[in-house]
Amino acid sequence: MPIKWENSKYSRKAKAFLSKDPMEFPLLTLLDGAIRSGKTSNIIQKIPQIFEAIGNNNLKVFSGYSKTSVRNNVLIELIPYIEDYLGGKVKYSTTSGEMEISLWGKTYPCLVVGGGKSDSAAKIQGGTWDFWYANELPQHNYEFYNMALSRLTPEYARAFADSNPESSNHWLYQEKIKPYFEGLNKDIFEYWHFSMQDNANLSETFIKNQSKLYNGVFKARKVDGLWVSPEGLVYDTFSCQKHVINHDCIIEKICKNEIIEFFLGIDWGWNHPTACLLLGKDRNDIFFVIDEFYAFKADVSNIISWIDTKQKEYMRFFSFANCDNSRPETNNALRQNSNLIIYEEKPRVEDSIAMVRSLINYDKLIVSEKCVNTLREFEIYRYPTLDDAPVKLNDDCMDALRYALFSYLSKRKRLMQLQ
Ligand SMILES: Nc1ncnc2c1ncn2[C@@H]1O[C@H](COP(=O)(O)OP(=O)(O)OP(=O)(O)O)[C@@H](O)[C@H]1O
Ligand SMILES: [Mg+2]
Repeated sequence: MPIKWENSKYSRKAKAFLSKDPMEFPLLTLLDGAIRSGKTSNIIQKIPQIFEAIGNNNLKVFSGYSKTSVRNNVLIELIPYIEDYLGGKVKYSTTSGEMEISLWGKTYPCLVVGGGKSDSAAKIQGGTWDFWYANELPQHNYEFYNMALSRLTPEYARAFADSNPESSNHWLYQEKIKPYFEGLNKDIFEYWHFSMQDNANLSETFIKNQSKLYNGVFKARKVDGLWVSPEGLVYDTFSCQKHVINHDCIIEKICKNEIIEFFLGIDWGWNHPTACLLLGKDRNDIFFVIDEFYAFKADVSNIISWIDTKQKEYMRFFSFANCDNSRPETNNALRQNSNLIIYEEKPRVEDSIAMVRSLINYDKLIVSEKCVNTLREFEIYRYPTLDDAPVKLNDDCMDALRYALFSYLSKRKRLMQLQ
């Protein structure tokens, strides 16, 4: 049921946002806070006035995690608002994402795009925009976000975004919101925080019931609208929606020679499982966890034959393995019985976790859905308290991952220093 705008009630904050002159906003304005707090509908109501102020010389872009999410969250309200309340006309093609909004004597060319995938930025290269609405900005791919900002070249260009809070480790919090609180970048970024009380259209009972639905970190984020990290989770920005890929897509990338280097990380175990992860890196420096070996009481011969089978299966040679250094004799057996270079470099836990976290934050680490044990550990690998080392539980794939990436990235750093 579309919103009945004639019955709208406005809180003080909504009024302040809606009555601000569009040109008084800086380049990027973020509305964040609790669910149902009116972030999206405030932007929707403001759009006609913003369009009028900006004019129709350039393209206007609407993005979200996917085109479908923009349609479900935004267009579903925006189109009836423009057509039924303001007497305008909207033409929208779901396939191309092209949209034309005719309102108050002007026609505005618009485009709806999905920005959540690691290859989304490629879709928006080139062209000048003078308006961008990012619905659920934290769900956007980091490169897409930067590319989108760089498209907004006209001086009068404006971007608006809405967002539910995520982890305080998220790039949006670290790069925009936190500096804003510290008094930085206020000339290019404005921040509006909404609580459910700032949506005068919600009933007291609805607000009370919502608070009862959530606990802990979810309550803090969804009801209180705070950017907090889930207690103790090591990789708290890893998202199944964004960072997991269908295995067939990986095979396709390998067949098309998009993944160009293959290497392994191994964490030896016996009573704990042995985990061996096969990683690949593509031409855009995105790392893929392609496959995993995970078994209790596995010995080196099992690993040797697994590596051999996988080299044949993917029809690629793997260049190196970085292995847990607590088993020199096992590592030596692997060295003598495989065609791989075997490293035994144990990285410092904090350094290598920080490295993996930063890859995740910038959407540079993608895991095949085939790697079920790795995915399970991403969801449960945690710290006992926030400042400690992680609990040595559910960490087998996580250790193998750190070894592989650390070795790859530190080797590359060394090579760069030599050049
Ligand atoms: N101006 C308004 N007039 C009437 N109802 C409104 C108005 N603004 C918001 N609402 C009501 O409040 C609901 C929540 O608003 P909205 O979807 O904008 O919140 P949100 O902060 O974007 O929520 P979410 O985080 O869930 O996306 C709407 O579905 C609508 O029912
Ligand atoms: Mg919304």
